[in-house]
Amino acid sequence: MNPTNEIEFIQKSERIQPPKNYTQNSNVQSIEDYQFMYTQSIKDPESFWSQIADELDWIKREDEIINGSMPDFTFFPRSLLNVCYNCVDRHALHPQRRNKVALFFEGENGEKRALTYLQLYREVQKFSNVLLSFGLSKGDVVSVYMQNIPETYVALLACFRLGIIYNTVFAGFSPEALRERIMSSHAKAVICSNGSYRRGKVLNLKETVDAALRDDHPVQHVVVFSHIADLSVSMTPGRDHDYTELMNNASASCEVVPLECNDPGLLIFTSGTSGKPKGIVHAGGGFLLGTYAYSKYQLDLRDEDVYWNTADIGWLTSHIFVLVGGLALGVTTILYEGAIDYPHQGRVYEMIEHYQVNKLFSAPTAFRMLMKYGETLAKQYDLSSIRLLASVGEPLNPEAWHWLYRVIGGNRAVINNTWGQTETGGTPLASLPGATPMKPGSCGVPFFGHHLDIVDQEGHSVQPGTPGFLVIRSVFPSLTRDVFGDHKRYLENYFDPMPGVYFTGDSAVRDQDGQYWVLGRVDDVINVSGHRISTMEMESSLISHEAVVEAAVVGQPDEIKGSVPVAFVTIDKQFTVNEALRLSLQRKIIADIGSFAKPDRIHFVNVMPKTRSGKIIRRMLREIIKEGTVHGDATGLEDSDILDTLIAEVKDDSSHPLS
Ligand code: PRX
Repeated sequence: MNPTNEIEFIQKSERIQPPKNYTQNSNVQSIEDYQFMYTQSIKDPESFWSQIADELDWIKREDEIINGSMPDFTFFPRSLLNVCYNCVDRHALHPQRRNKVALFFEGENGEKRALTYLQLYREVQKFSNVLLSFGLSKGDVVSVYMQNIPETYVALLACFRLGIIYNTVFAGFSPEALRERIMSSHAKAVICSNGSYRRGKVLNLKETVDAALRDDHPVQHVVVFSHIADLSVSMTPGRDHDYTELMNNASASCEVVPLECNDPGLLIFTSGTSGKPKGIVHAGGGFLLGTYAYSKYQLDLRDEDVYWNTADIGWLTSHIFVLVGGLALGVTTILYEGAIDYPHQGRVYEMIEHYQVNKLFSAPTAFRMLMKYGETLAKQYDLSSIRLLASVGEPLNPEAWHWLYRVIGGNRAVINNTWGQTETGGTPLASLPGATPMKPGSCGVPFFGHHLDIVDQEGHSVQPGTPGFLVIRSVFPSLTRDVFGDHKRYLENYFDPMPGVYFTGDSAVRDQDGQYWVLGRVDDVINVSGHRISTMEMESSLISHEAVVEAAVVGQPDEIKGSVPVAFVTIDKQFTVNEALRLSLQRKIIADIGSFAKPDRIHFVNVMPKTRSGKIIRRMLREIIKEGTVHGDATGLEDSDILDTLIAEVKDDSSHPLS
């Protein structure tokens, strides 16, 4: 859709009222209630956050609620609490909740396990003692390179218990990417599993860890959980330890460490506009406050729910809505390892039917994949338990929205397309189930205590219907507190672009009903299946290949994945363009970043469209791959004659999509 049509579509968008049976039970029951509560929360954010804090357990609670303003702020300064206590102990010590299932684990290969809150409590304490036995303590960093299995939860919760800062690294990342994260976070230990299943194949994770730890590194201990019994891995004596052996010898009693609400709790790397990924730091207590509030109001999580969030533990979504938000609310969740359409396309439905899942959270890409598999397949299963379907990370297009609503939701479920970022540690925009009308394609309304706005270049608010930069004017507890080891970069990225506000890097438009529609990034980040990839990071990888002289990467819209990366390269004359070179470039990106960043196409060109100052005009490359030509203004080009050549070259080359 071109931008003008898109705005017209938004202005005319349909409104679907929340299902009546849902409204009767929801936390907020009408749009009027939402508006009233929202206005109050903006006028008096301290009262709102104080009410949230009342629902959590504190070790010491001081009176002060919010101190300072952007970019220097704290929530509940000097107050002490522990995230693990709130997610585990308080349920395990509760007579009615102790034997409730916290996690139902299921692997794509059919392996099943269940862990109650009481069992989780014991396991977490044991693993905390393991960490203590290594001499690790508050403020140390530990890298976690694991997939969705209960032991990952145990490890992360144990870190929260002791104030150890964990950094989860997506188990699809390459040794190079893992190494970079270990080195730049100064991780003292790595916790991994020996391997994980993905589409019937075994990924040897320990091998990746070993490759990442070649040469010098700060890691003193590696704990390996043998998830795959017959996968043998090499163990370095003195450094590597077997998880089960350690746990068998550990005591199941370990006190929680009292932590100041703003102490760093977790670290997660994300792609930014420059080549190197940023280590986003979240305060432990702040993250708990925020994620508890989002999970309670936006997912309406409650005791009786069976809730499945398909997100991988390598991405922040599962920390927001399951590990911390979900467990703090004491729900029963499902943890699934592997591909959700393996070994057959109906796997998601089979799981819903088997566990009677009533809330399903997944990525728009996954929902579009189900749509592609068709309605007939969905109809073969009993999906009548579903009450809410939610997503985050990329646009949920109206077509997929309607399909979900009708086919999986049976015209009676709430569809919640939430908007958030790794940096916001949650979702400042979403619908409130049962209260706000749903608009297919919109990201809903601002969350309580979050003052969002859309502004022009000068930072002035724009009128409804006018696109602009999405910014956040108020501080909130789960907003990132730093870029690990690089405070300057934190300020430059998020606060320097517009003083006094948090700059999201997204463009958006607000409609006349106050709903927000996120239009896309304003920087060089693309979103592939909800994974944020920096085109600069891909370009630096390509440029470091011996054959490449120049590289430009742009996103191309894709029906299923939202967008896919397409690379343009010019090569050194002594190299020949052939399939082997194409594959070698592809392998370079996979090795440097990971297989999810694999370009969909690599175009070999002789020229790049450049400005007079020598900058590659990526907009033109985007237009060429999308429409086969350049429509917009070409006067900025250093040499406008190159366009025809470039267009012809791309056309010529387009018969080679990469497998
Ligand atoms: O561009 C926005 C897009 O994803 C970016 C954030 O990516 P990441 O940090 O990986 O997300 C973690 C989620 C907790 C945003 O800047 N994005 C996110 N949600 C949406 C979206 N774009 C459109 N619609 C959404 N619902």
